[in-house]
Amino acid sequence: MPYEGLIQTYKNYLPVNENTPLLTLKEGNTPLIRAENLSKDLDLDLYFKFEGLNPTGSFKDRGMVMAVAKAMEEGSKTIMCASTGNTSAAAAAYAARGGLNCIVLIPNNNIALGKLAQAIIYGAKVIAIDGNFDRALEIVREITAKHPITLVNSVNPYRIEGQKTAAFEVVDQLGKAPDVLAIPVGNAGNISAYWKGFKEYKEAGKSSTLPRMLGFEAEGAMAIVKGEPIANPETVATAIRIGNPASWKTAVIAAEESQGQINYVTDDEILEAYRTIASREGVFAEPGSAASIAGVYKMKREGYFKGGESVVCVLTGHGLKDPNIAIKTVNAEPLVVSDNEAAVMDAIATLEGAAQV
Ligand code: F0G
Repeated sequence: MPYEGLIQTYKNYLPVNENTPLLTLKEGNTPLIRAENLSKDLDLDLYFKFEGLNPTGSFKDRGMVMAVAKAMEEGSKTIMCASTGNTSAAAAAYAARGGLNCIVLIPNNNIALGKLAQAIIYGAKVIAIDGNFDRALEIVREITAKHPITLVNSVNPYRIEGQKTAAFEVVDQLGKAPDVLAIPVGNAGNISAYWKGFKEYKEAGKSSTLPRMLGFEAEGAMAIVKGEPIANPETVATAIRIGNPASWKTAVIAAEESQGQINYVTDDEILEAYRTIASREGVFAEPGSAASIAGVYKMKREGYFKGGESVVCVLTGHGLKDPNIAIKTVNAEPLVVSDNEAAVMDAIATLEGAAQV
């Protein structure tokens, strides 16, 4: 049977009734890709849940389809969110699809170009503030409390409901729950959603075990690891540049209940992992996503794994969202030569790989 989208597929597990529109861009149903080379390097059975292959290029589509469908059901005309980029892209796309107005608040100069392009082309009202994500979310909360506008950040419970379906897919694709689920942590909604999903699927008899949840913040934004909000979060991974995560408490519960942990990775570790998954596995995910694999490398170095464990890394967004980072990180522009065979052969002889340009 053709895939009918997230709401239709998982309606028995979602807050769906006969009045809920079956809104869809065919989100979800993303591949679980075995990391053949890195599994050998790390002595693990390692997989990527590649959420970058959702319709707007990130996992946000899962939560947004649900939140926008419910907003439509409730008669809302306008949705609003704060965003480091991916939420705004998803909100703008589903609002367009559902015929709603969309307003997005972003931190000026701190969102990837592709994400900005998406919000604009889908037709959202895009407003950049001289402030960070945390401040943007505060303002959105204030405005949506006073006006008939639906808040679609992950503090909207329908977002978490939609996002939990990724855990269902992981179990179905692997044939069991993995030993470990590694995931980037920004506003901390997604780790909370996965944990909810794994628990519900186990209760439904679909798996017999639960994974340990390993969440990774970026070092310059590691509020949960430090145990206090960070006023000026900084990281190359702009997606997770968040100093006061809204779902802080449920993320800590996910880590504790599952006997996992919330840990952190440095920007260098993130960029190293980002390059490695592209150059060794052919998978291009954005830097924020690479925090999950950077975290697995860190835990491996620290002796956390016995060997052979099944580990699923959530790659939350597509690498094409942020092409500038790719070019800057590898520090390579294509070599330009004359249009003849000899010049091309000379160039091939001098080039050993992108980093050599
Ligand atoms: N990875 C990517 C690519 C993201 O865009 C985000 C969050 C996360 C990880 C972290 O997920 O917030 O649920 O812990 N992006 C939000 C946004 C904040 O506005 O797009 P989280």
